[in-house]
Amino acid sequence: MDFEIINSDISAIETECLVIGLEADAVLSTSAQIIDKAAKGYIQSVIDDGDISGKRGQHLMLRNIPGITAKRVLLVGLGETEKRADPVHKSIISSIFAQLKNSNINEVTIALDDKINKDADIYRQMRLSVQTFCGEFYEYDETKSTKATPSLLEAIRFAVPVASTQDAEAGILDGTAVANGMTVARELGNLPGNVCTPTYLSKEALELEQGYQNISCDILDEAAMAELGMHSLLSVGNGSAEDSQLIVIKYSGGEAADRPHVLVGKGVTFDTGGISLKPGAAMDEMKFDMCGAASVMGTMQAIAEMELPMNVIGVIAAAENMPSDRATKPGDVITTMSGKTVEVLNTDAEGRLVLCDALTYVERFDPITVVDIATLTGAVIVALGHQTSAVLSNNDALAAELIEAGEYASDRTWRLPLWDEYQELLDSNFADIANIGGPSAGTITAACFLARFTEKYHWAHLDIAGVAWSKGKAKGATGRAVPILCQYLMNTAADQLDANA
Ligand code: BES
Ligand code: MN
Ligand code: ZN
Repeated sequence: MDFEIINSDISAIETECLVIGLEADAVLSTSAQIIDKAAKGYIQSVIDDGDISGKRGQHLMLRNIPGITAKRVLLVGLGETEKRADPVHKSIISSIFAQLKNSNINEVTIALDDKINKDADIYRQMRLSVQTFCGEFYEYDETKSTKATPSLLEAIRFAVPVASTQDAEAGILDGTAVANGMTVARELGNLPGNVCTPTYLSKEALELEQGYQNISCDILDEAAMAELGMHSLLSVGNGSAEDSQLIVIKYSGGEAADRPHVLVGKGVTFDTGGISLKPGAAMDEMKFDMCGAASVMGTMQAIAEMELPMNVIGVIAAAENMPSDRATKPGDVITTMSGKTVEVLNTDAEGRLVLCDALTYVERFDPITVVDIATLTGAVIVALGHQTSAVLSNNDALAAELIEAGEYASDRTWRLPLWDEYQELLDSNFADIANIGGPSAGTITAACFLARFTEKYHWAHLDIAGVAWSKGKAKGATGRAVPILCQYLMNTAADQLDANA
């Protein structure tokens, strides 16, 4: 898919299809006025006939309009200005795609005059439009024998005023990079657990290394992890025939001496619950339990594509959680890489067990910040549903930066507390700490567990269990948290440039 910015007069452009907007109460947008004038009142006559009124969700495909060169005009209802926030923006783009995808139109020109989103400048509008188009294009077919029929749509042009060209083009570039990262994350998430194993994730990381000059990659196998004392991570994969992996992806876009920002992803490629076996209903969805890892992979690709001037290290803690005669049992006590011992009261609370060793491991990089991303708790769905991820942090500035990045990237988070009074819920009679905290505040106690291993640096945790995939008919990975992570890193890189200027 090609995206392009054009500045030409829309009444005189050659295009298969020109998309123009109609606001609520049939108010013609600027582009619609231009076309109406060139067509001597044709658009107005269609409105006067009552064929379209500008309500959101309406569309009307018109052909052979006199006085203009576009072959077709798609009139799109934009609805009321005040309602045009991100979700409406995305739904308008999706509805345009729906109109075009099964046609034989292979090129389209979109002239919506800045009107698609009341909360976004042209750069951000382009980001969101491009990301939404790319999201619509993606179709999973890797393990289907009938492959998806590719849409004929090849080029999408956005008509913008000359003065906005640079910003719009930047929006296309960044939007494409983020969208490609989201596609990587979705594809990895959607692959079944028998394909996307820890070893498969390692191979994907090696592909990234192959694909980008600035990316290098270290893979630690079980022996290497045992050497480092990562018995917590290893304990999760004990019951599985698949080897656990610690995958370290280094992106060097900054100076060699620049301290890195670190991302750590939960990569449980299938979570049966282990000996604390999960109930059968919807257990297939636990193939998505590596979506934190997938968003690290997608983000690393996106920042390499954008060539951000900073150093970032992505770490993936990959294991498969299975029951077997060798599996970790409830009551077992393990020793983490940090030396702290953990009583595993529930083998289904495995995410924190793989993450804690990865979080200790990354101390060696002397990170500026560490953000972990994990489908960690069902409790976050109770608290925030499928719209919002939770952020918990030991640093207020970092939490604020992530929340702001999520707002901007339309990948929103909400902060939950990480106060000391919750810590006692993790007390154990047989180890330094238990791996579960009882029935209340599940998302908080999970983060409290991680907090015991992140005291040496500024750290935040994103619980993406509610947002990483959709259920039901549209079951599939969403590509979240790639947008927020990219945005956070983009903002950080920009702040750094400002500080050095
Ligand atoms: N991967 C799950 C969390 C999860 C559950 C994500 C359902 C999405 C939907 C995690 O490993 C887990 O099982 N967590 C337990 C923790 C509990 C045993 C303390 C949970 O949330 O039930
Ligand atoms: Mn689990
Ligand atoms: Zn899990």
